[in-house]
Amino acid sequence: MSDTLVEVRREGSAAVVALRRDRKLNALSSALEEAIGDALDGPDVRASACVVFTGGPRAFSAGADIDELRDLDPAAILAYYRATGGVYERIARLPQPTVSAIAGHCLGGGFELALATDFRIAEPSASFALPEVGIGILPSSGGTHRLVRLVGTARAKELVLLGDRFGADEALRLGLVTEVAAAGAGLERALALAERLGALPAVAVAVAKQVIDAMPDASYDAGLALERLGYGMLAQTADAAEAAAAFAEKRPPRFRGR
Ligand code: COA
Repeated sequence: MSDTLVEVRREGSAAVVALRRDRKLNALSSALEEAIGDALDGPDVRASACVVFTGGPRAFSAGADIDELRDLDPAAILAYYRATGGVYERIARLPQPTVSAIAGHCLGGGFELALATDFRIAEPSASFALPEVGIGILPSSGGTHRLVRLVGTARAKELVLLGDRFGADEALRLGLVTEVAAAGAGLERALALAERLGALPAVAVAVAKQVIDAMPDASYDAGLALERLGYGMLAQTADAAEAAAAFAEKRPPRFRGR
């Protein structure tokens, strides 16, 4: 079952995790979430320098599977987060950088999945919204949290409470996506970004990502300490030694990928 819902493949040093529940616009059923979790545990993602998440031309994902949202009691909701609902946090905590290549509907939990990645690239067909409040619930896969960090509380309230749809250009203006690619070129642009990220010293990338993610909750002093400790660790790596030697020898550094 997992194999048909999610396809994983290697593209150079990157892994592509493609949602393939096309018939249901990649609505995030618990089976699809489980398949994404399985992909994260698989050898392709584990060995990759960057992970690209994508959907199909009609939908990155139309959000939580509404058919599964009916008649959930508190115990079932707790069980859901213990089972497959934690997959968004697992994506957010991947050590390597992550990119979402988005075309079509990117709604609710699908938008939250994209927010759990480090970068988002949208095609002109991308259409974003958080419809949860309008159906009596709220974004609860880390999206509210991440949105506040990305755009601030006032904008987050606008997006979460009003739930209006907006397109790729507005997402770019809000800083929610890093690039609007040409139609049909979202994955290609995401892979180009993945290649750039994958060519960088992997340990420095992983440590910098972890430090940046910790910053919003860190005090100023704790943040400085994290930077300095991170530096103390990275300065001892072979990549840093090689870069310093290259500088001294006036030649370009030879960064080693994984
Ligand atoms: N959960 C479950 N099934 C969903 C779904 C969701 N979030 N979004 C789409 N689907 C299913 C539809 O039920 C339909 O299945 P069917 O062919 O078996 O009837 C299929 O995907 C195609 O969707 P359809 O509505 O026919 O496509 P459309 O192009 O007319 O409309 C949307 C697309 C995205 C506007 C519409 O499907 C929609 O509003 N979906 C719900 C979005 C949402 O509220 N998500 C947040 C949930 S918290």
